[in-house]
Amino acid sequence: MSFPNVRPRRLRTTAAMRRMVSETRLHPAELILPLFVKEGIAEPRAVESMPGVLQHSRESLRKAVAEAAQAGIGGVMLFGIPAEKDAVGSGGIDPNGILNVAIRDVVAEVGDSVVVMSDLCLDEFTSHGHCGLVRPDGSVDNDATLAAYARMAVAQAAAGVHVVGPSGMMDGQVAVVRRALDEAGYRDTTILAYAAKYASAFYGPFRDAVESSLDGDRRTYQQDPANLRESLREVALDVAEGADIVMVKPALAYLDVISAVRHMVDVPVAAYQVSGEYAMVEAAAANGWIDRDRVMMETLHSIRRAGAQLILTYWAVDAARHLRADF
Ligand code: PBG
Repeated sequence: MSFPNVRPRRLRTTAAMRRMVSETRLHPAELILPLFVKEGIAEPRAVESMPGVLQHSRESLRKAVAEAAQAGIGGVMLFGIPAEKDAVGSGGIDPNGILNVAIRDVVAEVGDSVVVMSDLCLDEFTSHGHCGLVRPDGSVDNDATLAAYARMAVAQAAAGVHVVGPSGMMDGQVAVVRRALDEAGYRDTTILAYAAKYASAFYGPFRDAVESSLDGDRRTYQQDPANLRESLREVALDVAEGADIVMVKPALAYLDVISAVRHMVDVPVAAYQVSGEYAMVEAAAANGWIDRDRVMMETLHSIRRAGAQLILTYWAVDAARHLRADF
């Protein structure tokens, strides 16, 4: 009788053996929780297409961030939903706008114990839902938008945010934000650049969460899902412009991009497991078709394995609790 010369199964025989040879380890500190805060509401509201995710009130946001810090996650990414939107997104720049107020609330609550990040983009604040300023012909004006981002960045830094996340995919945005922050004296405010951001249908539920009124799409500024090399160019530009961390978004359908970026740069690489990725799993699990917790952890391990050191995920706190139970 002949035997297999090599038996890979030996290293899978027990849980202890599998744990010992595991190639990818997740740690709660690498997880970042996106959170939504809505102006003028007393009680948090459910986001229908994202079961378990809330539009927070100022008060419930503070509690959610304190809880996230307690769970040991690395950071939170804040998104604001203003009571009134206008064509130029004034609420994003106003020091008393909801996002800037929320940054102050949160930093007062948790200090430096968890990294506080904010989305730096106009789309949550504009009545037309675009990430930038729109010309009369409907096109998005890159350079006029840059000036707005610069003011927004300074307002967020003044509110005490640790990391700003320019996510509008305007050319030159990282350089403009870096310069504005430096000139205003915020030299340590860190930039997490949404460097490779695709024009993805996976953002659908997010647009419910921020009550986006976008009519049309973002294909003149976000990337074509068919492209990989274009992402490498975007990432190289953002690093050259001063990005401290670069991000690929979405995550699961773009693991090849995460891997390529990881091999190209020496700054930390983040990936954003976006609203649609979350909603698909939650919906299937609610129907009893898949095991939610196992799929959650499997996706996070896959994103980590592909090369993302940091992961933005709506499951950050759940996953952190899962990981702690395993330690
Ligand atoms: C732009 C922004 C978006 C998301 C994060 N930042 C929306 C978009 O680009 O259309 C989507 C995140 C998600 O889907 O979870 N401010």
